Amino acid sequence: MQVETLILGAGAAGMMCAAHAGPGTLVIDHARAPGEKIRISGGGRCNFTNLDCGPAQFHGTNPHFAKSALARYTHWEFISLISEHGLAWHEKTLGQLFLDDKATGLVDLLRGLMARAGAELRLETALVDLCHDGTHFHATLETQGRREIVTARRLVVATGGKSIPKMGASGLAYDIARQFGHALVPPRPALVPFTFPDGRFASLAGVSLPVRADAGGHGFDEAMLFTHRGLSGPAILQISSFWAEGQPITIDLAPGADLFNLLRTERQTAGRKQIGTALAAHLPARLAQYLADTLHLNGNLADQPDSRLRPLCETLHHWRLTPSGTEGWRTAEVTAGGVATDGISPQSMMSKTVPGLYFIGECVDVTGWLGGYNFQWAWSSAMAAARAL
Ligand code: FDA
Repeated sequence: MQVETLILGAGAAGMMCAAHAGPGTLVIDHARAPGEKIRISGGGRCNFTNLDCGPAQFHGTNPHFAKSALARYTHWEFISLISEHGLAWHEKTLGQLFLDDKATGLVDLLRGLMARAGAELRLETALVDLCHDGTHFHATLETQGRREIVTARRLVVATGGKSIPKMGASGLAYDIARQFGHALVPPRPALVPFTFPDGRFASLAGVSLPVRADAGGHGFDEAMLFTHRGLSGPAILQISSFWAEGQPITIDLAPGADLFNLLRTERQTAGRKQIGTALAAHLPARLAQYLADTLHLNGNLADQPDSRLRPLCETLHHWRLTPSGTEGWRTAEVTAGGVATDGISPQSMMSKTVPGLYFIGECVDVTGWLGGYNFQWAWSSAMAAARAL
């Protein structure tokens, strides 16, 4: 079989690209259904983009790489696309846009657009072998035991990153990149909870509070959640993308408050209050008790001179912790790192060394913050390639 374009992966980027590529496009995926991550994302309502979307919310070895694709296919264009097709949406928080109804509506829309563009979708299909003769790619595909060689002028790699192998994630994009001489930035789990040794926070599991979390020079003001194995919640997921193993993270447990002045004032009016009870006015009660126990805070407020209160409040505003690791690929929302961007054109996403070879979506060394940015990268990078095909 001969096609113009073979797209590997029917996820967000692959479907978007196929929906806008010319005729003669074949999309394959080894999964039973396309767009599985779209379907389950955002609690089933898919946080498909963000109103505050610009290059600043993306990171990678070259922080400028994403600029072109993001500027040439913006979040406004994606919002128009889905609105024109009747998908209703709303802003939840921090510019994050979610669908009003089930995310399967978006998968169906992309599937419909692909069909309208004349793209063929072949599911439960694996790539067995791939070679390039200088002008064409020859891919051996296997669908339910049946093998077929497909020849294509262009190959778009849209098989995503390594996060959540249970959902079909594989390292195929990296293998293909290596095969064609592209460098890789070591893929690592990102937007992922931290783990700590010895079940340190098990007694706090379920406690959530607004914090400012910092790691690797990046800080986020969002919620933090204690889990049986460590820390999670948006603030933690965000900083996990900037954390390096062995490095400490810093948590401000009362961002925006001046705990020292608050406790000092309270000492004058309610000096007989236990220090743990006083803290519970500013922090969740279980956390206040945990801190009182682990920091050995005894006595009432009147017993705490400034020389004791000040370092205590410093600790609460700059709580330094060193995670033992992360929950890894099992739960990571995205993969940071990936196909090195210096080998790809930022305008077309085409390989600079192998004409006709494209990498789009999460497999590329571009990672967005939590909040709809990673889907926007999938839409924008897919459109950059589709327009160049
Ligand atoms: P994606 O992973 O979507 O698609 C890759 C496709 O390739 C899959 O269909 C897969 O089956 C296929 N494939 C992989 N290996 C293959 C192989 N060897 N052979 C054939 N096919 C293969 N982002 C966001 O912006 N807002 C959100 O709300 C969320 N929520 C969210 C929740 C959860 C639980 C996860 C895991 C992730 C998110 N994300 C997110 C991230 C977002 O899902 C992700 O960034 C995009 O889906 C990436 O799109 P891609 O098309 O690049 O990969």
